[in-house]
Parts: sequence; structure tokens; C-alpha cells
Amino acid sequence: MGLLRTGVAIESDLLKRFDSHIKNQGYANRSEALRDLIRDRLNEAGQKSGSAFVVGTITLIYDHHSRLLPDRLTELQHEYHELIISTVHAHLDHNLCLETVVVKGMLRRVQELAGRLIGIKGVQHGKLVMSSPQAYLTRSAKRRRRPHMHPGQS
Ligand code: NI
Repeated sequence: MGLLRTGVAIESDLLKRFDSHIKNQGYANRSEALRDLIRDRLNEAGQKSGSAFVVGTITLIYDHHSRLLPDRLTELQHEYHELIISTVHAHLDHNLCLETVVVKGMLRRVQELAGRLIGIKGVQHGKLVMSSPQAYLTRSAKRRRRPHMHPGQS
């Protein structure tokens, strides 16, 4: 398995923070830390099939003065309206906004929406958090069907 080199453009202060973070984690070099990050991300993505049902939140931090950004956000949310349960918006200060979009639907579509929202130019930070309620339902339903004892019962 050969190694390929790739170049990535990163803001200097972001790179500085990453370097000090990975130093604390005990990484010998940046490449190994980046490979681990990529593996983690792919692992998360690969755990479920694209057609699995998920619920989740997409959290975005952005400067609402960024040109066209608020319009683009609204436009995209209308485009994916069937996935969106609700949106909470908080004005953090004169410039910054925090927006959390609560979503449910097919994993593939939720990831697609998250990618497009987070990818909007001017979004400073974005994070998709997902859960699969059906997996838990199945587990607890199974538990209910199986007779079991609690401590102290006879
Ligand atoms: Ni705002």
C-alpha cells in the first residue's frame, strides 16, 4: 500500500491549534494525525447504510454579514424542507449567529444537506450529529419481549 502526497490549504492559526492539539495527543507528526482523522470520519460514515433512517442536528456558526449567506441558508433549507423538523436561530453578538437545524430522514439525504449547509462560503464552523432511533427501539423492544428478573425479585 503506497503513500500518496496531497497538499491542503489551511489558515495558519487553525494549523497552529491543530499542531498543538496533536502534540498533546502524542502524535509524532502531522501526517499520522491527519490520517487518523480521516479514518475516524470514514468509519463514522460507513457504519450505516445510506438508506438508514436517522435523526439529528446540524449546527452552524456564521457571520450574518457574509454576502448572500443568509439567503443561501434559507434557500437550501427550503430545498430540503421534507427533512427539516425545525430550526433554532440565536444571535450570539453583533456579527455571529448560531443556527441549529433539527433533521430526520434518510442518512444519505441528511448528510447531503449537512454537507451543503456547512460548505456555504462564510460558515465558520459546522457539525452534523446523528442518531438512529430505530436501532435503540429494536433493542428495547427485544428486551421487553424477553422475560427477565430484577434484583430482589424471586
Ligand atoms: Ni443571527
